[in-house]
Amino acid sequence: MNDFEKSRGFWGSRAGFVIAAAGSAIGLGNIWKFPYITGQHGGGAFVIVYLICIVLIGIPIMLAEFTIGRKTHKNPVGAYKNIHPAGLWFLVGGMGVLAGFMILSFYSVVAGWTIAYVVRSIFMLVTQFETAADAGKYFGNFASNPFEALLFHTIFMSLCISIVIKGVRSGIEKSCDILMPTLLFILVLLVIRSLTLKGAWAGVVFYLKPEFSKLTAQGVLVALGHAFFSLSLGMGAMITYGSYLSKKENLASSALIVGALDTVIALLAGLMIFPAVFAMGLEPSAGPGLVFHVLPAVFSKMPFGNIVSIAFFTLLAIAALTSGISLLEVVVAYFIDEIRWSRKKAVLIVGSVIFILGIPSALSFGAFGEYKLFGMNFFDIVDHIASNYLLPLGGLLICVFVAWVWGPKPALEEIHIGEHKFPFAGGWVFLVKYISPVAVGIILIAKLMGK
Ligand code: PHE
Repeated sequence: MNDFEKSRGFWGSRAGFVIAAAGSAIGLGNIWKFPYITGQHGGGAFVIVYLICIVLIGIPIMLAEFTIGRKTHKNPVGAYKNIHPAGLWFLVGGMGVLAGFMILSFYSVVAGWTIAYVVRSIFMLVTQFETAADAGKYFGNFASNPFEALLFHTIFMSLCISIVIKGVRSGIEKSCDILMPTLLFILVLLVIRSLTLKGAWAGVVFYLKPEFSKLTAQGVLVALGHAFFSLSLGMGAMITYGSYLSKKENLASSALIVGALDTVIALLAGLMIFPAVFAMGLEPSAGPGLVFHVLPAVFSKMPFGNIVSIAFFTLLAIAALTSGISLLEVVVAYFIDEIRWSRKKAVLIVGSVIFILGIPSALSFGAFGEYKLFGMNFFDIVDHIASNYLLPLGGLLICVFVAWVWGPKPALEEIHIGEHKFPFAGGWVFLVKYISPVAVGIILIAKLMGK
């Protein structure tokens, strides 16, 4: 390793790496999206399909990403170039960097809303609703107000920049070491609060009792797509985080732990939301508005709802922040490694450009709402292209690269460094070679056909 590689930065400990990678995975996807798609697709049976996707497709691809990253100690573009200098594979890394750029630009807008709702909860403004429709109207007014949307988008991007600028160890690792335990603590308290409400049991039954008659083909596709987004796969976030890991650490068990943590948090998020929604007699299938329309109505009816609301939106903001910094880090690592910018220059320039790209997304629910393409506003278009196409395509190509181009043998050598046991080696190769690419290929084709 030369001096430049050393100066890229390393995690201080394996626990630090696992917590940061879990921080990337655990985000708005777990707490905002997972519960609402579960609500829309019928509850328990959907949860089971999701779990199967995580185990058979998500965790194996995460291990593939960690392995490429740790092998090369490079950002996604540099990593592909390093392993396979000939050909166009580096473009897959480039697509990942582009996806990071795009996802952070709109992710920051939603993250900004959560911070705004923390502030509004403190002033008791979001727990005064009679019905979910009132809360929905309030949210609509809020999101269409350009001043606030931009202010909180700015605040969120500034937080990401101020952490990533301090580097891998003293910025990302240190902040995740504090933020992730805080997140877990708040979440557990909220689950207890929700489960102890009168009438909570109906929510638990809806959420966990599988009724396969409610499951549709569409539900299976959504579960698989979400497994990807939730584990931060397909764009090289896990390649980048793996690239700061030392050779002595165990890659396979790290992937397993990160996948398990992400799943446990998503399951707990459902266990926090559904019992409360049912206890207050509201609808579980409200869609994307579940968190901003239905929950404020739930909090309005609940004893100590105001404190619960502050805790809940803080939880969402923390989850978003630890994911936002990983998105920024992918793009920053590219500019540091490949263009040889200093970390400071890379973070400030990349952060500002992502901020600017986020402005039309922030205004998509108000001033820019009328500008639509294929019925989607700017926010939806960026989300749709990055989450529905770039991530699955990136994931598919990562599998093909590891299993067919680089080859399972050198990949397994990297995984085995340090004499770590990997009893599932044969199974992993089989999954990455056949099952994951075929499954991801099916979602991509279904999406392209507009399903
Ligand atoms: N996994 C994050 C979430 O669940 C989102 C994310 C996707 C973060 C891709 C980084 C890379 O919210």
